[in-house]
Amino acid sequence: MDFARSDFPEGFQFGAATSSYQIEGHSFGGAGKTHWDTFAATPGNVVRAENGDIACDHYHRYADDLDLLAEGNFDVYRFSTSWARVLPEGRGTPNPEGLDFYDRLVDGMLERGLKPAATLYHWELPSPLADLGGWRNRDIAGWFADFTEVIMGRIGDRVWSAAPINEPWCVGWLSHFLGHHAPGLRDIRATARAMHHVLLAHGRAIETMRALGMSNLGAVCNMEYAAPADDTPQAAAAAELYDGYYNHFFISGMFKKAYPDTVLEGLGPHLPKGWQDDFDVIGAPVDWCGINYYTRKLIAPNDDPWPSHHEVDGPLPKTAMGWEIYPEGLEYLLKRTHRDYTGDLPLYVTENGMAAPDEIEDGAVDDPHRIDYLDQHLGAVRRAIAAGAPVAGYYAWSLLDNFEWALGYEKRFGLVHVDFDSLQRTPKASYHALKAALARG
Ligand code: FCB
Repeated sequence: MDFARSDFPEGFQFGAATSSYQIEGHSFGGAGKTHWDTFAATPGNVVRAENGDIACDHYHRYADDLDLLAEGNFDVYRFSTSWARVLPEGRGTPNPEGLDFYDRLVDGMLERGLKPAATLYHWELPSPLADLGGWRNRDIAGWFADFTEVIMGRIGDRVWSAAPINEPWCVGWLSHFLGHHAPGLRDIRATARAMHHVLLAHGRAIETMRALGMSNLGAVCNMEYAAPADDTPQAAAAAELYDGYYNHFFISGMFKKAYPDTVLEGLGPHLPKGWQDDFDVIGAPVDWCGINYYTRKLIAPNDDPWPSHHEVDGPLPKTAMGWEIYPEGLEYLLKRTHRDYTGDLPLYVTENGMAAPDEIEDGAVDDPHRIDYLDQHLGAVRRAIAAGAPVAGYYAWSLLDNFEWALGYEKRFGLVHVDFDSLQRTPKASYHALKAALARG
């Protein structure tokens, strides 16, 4: 990794990201049950039926993990707060241990000179709220605003930035249409409602944080570069529709107060009544926009019901997730988001990284592929900046190997290796390479 800080604009922030359920250990500290616990307990949903009970035991080892961030020369740490750790029933009486934990965590960052970048929700919905329909129930916007008030009432005075919801597409489509994540539904009506309610909850949380006097509030969306599988007009239309419900739908709601027509063709009939009246909340002004980017997808049409398409295997080198490595897609999506949606607002790459079958040998982990991946994507960020996109920071996913959702502990995304028996942390070569680069002025 041969970049220096001076290759990026003054004040550019470098960070690493994690999420609560993936690292903390949800069996500790009085956290309530979540839909990820029950999804994982249902045969066939998660590799080896693994779950987040212990994860990286970050709940107890957080100080060591913050040391790794500080020693790695990072400026900012993107973490998330577990709703069920703070409110075990999803509503009502807070868990004092949960609030104390996030208090200690934020203070721990500040003591080490790290800026706390909070995400309120990274997927572990409290089970009692899932019982009421979870993201399908419009009331979730109010429940989420109340949670926002409780947690940010405690730590909001010290966080540097905050975003309500990690990756609305995953909360909506991946979890309610494809069924790959909790609650594991495959239902178009549930999908349409979840996609709309997740945006309504986002807006309500932004309003709540503004009312608390907080600033530097943003949104974090995942995007994939959508490419047609061949050069037929049918494949082009299929890729455009994929681009529509994956990349455009959420930022269009937030920044244009409208949904793309291509997506409404399929989802419109299933949206909740009066959805058109919610855009003033959904479009509550934000201060920045985050993009999580990993790969591109090749899309081909088929005869299924809407959206009538599927993914096709691509020819490029792939990560252990089977995801093609395509840094040009990040450059394109940063430039397009700036041009078509966010204008002068700062953009952040809020997640980017790769999984590999990393192993410890002689006490070290050599991961040249990850160094190369990060280097190539940071190059894409630099090109987007040179073309005028106001990118203000980049977060590697992830600080630690962790619970990679339906893929359990098998897919290692960390800059730091975690032995899931001993829970020992071993910084990989990529951690050392990034640390050295970030030391260069
Ligand atoms: C993102 C998620 C994150 C992790 C990475 C690999 O979609 O935000 O939790 O699973 O993918």
